[in-house]
Amino acid sequence: MSETTLAFDVYGTLIDPYALADELRPQLGERAETVAAAWRASQLQLSFRRGLMGRYDDFSVCTRHGLDVALAAHAPEIDESTREAWMAAYARLPAFDEVAGALVELRQQGYRRVAFSNGSHDAMRTVLGNAGLLDHFDDLVSVDEVKRFKPDPAVYHHLARRMQAAHDRLWLISSNNWDVQGARHVGLNAAWVQRDPTALIEDSALEPNFRIDSLSELPKMLEKPGV
Ligand code: LAC
Repeated sequence: MSETTLAFDVYGTLIDPYALADELRPQLGERAETVAAAWRASQLQLSFRRGLMGRYDDFSVCTRHGLDVALAAHAPEIDESTREAWMAAYARLPAFDEVAGALVELRQQGYRRVAFSNGSHDAMRTVLGNAGLLDHFDDLVSVDEVKRFKPDPAVYHHLARRMQAAHDRLWLISSNNWDVQGARHVGLNAAWVQRDPTALIEDSALEPNFRIDSLSELPKMLEKPGV
């Protein structure tokens, strides 16, 4: 039996970008959650837009521009040095509580584990290292290797090539519904970690193989007959 590879999305799945609200709160008070959510939404929207234009740049550029967009709407008074400090905080974001335990279990089950992100290799190494997760991975795959952003089909095909994995032996594990749909669109398996109960898969042709509420459910789900 050939090896099964699990490719984990980073931001939103392993690492919590909404934890930035704690960093923003001293300056923004009760606006912190709104700005953290707007920051994340803008970062993603800008990556999609760059993808459509064929105007790739490091994901950190989308992150920085996303912060400026969020602050223009909600807190334009924030100065440049504070913006830079918040960008630096992106590298120190925490992991979700259950992640390390689940990765240990999956290693024991014999799955090959790789982190797969819009973030660069440096960004992944830093944020996963700071969160104590780096040693849990066999490899890191960045979209930077093909200079396209998720959910461009090229990045999922690249992942399969890089891992020398057949599409049906490769899983994307992601909390991002658009990432799950991108993987299903090219025939990869996908598990959706539905951290946001209000999110949905709006395109029924691109449903995940299964959905779970947290990564601690993943080891058991993958062992189910027929999965
Ligand atoms: C990632 C972001 C987009 O690829 O969630 O890590």
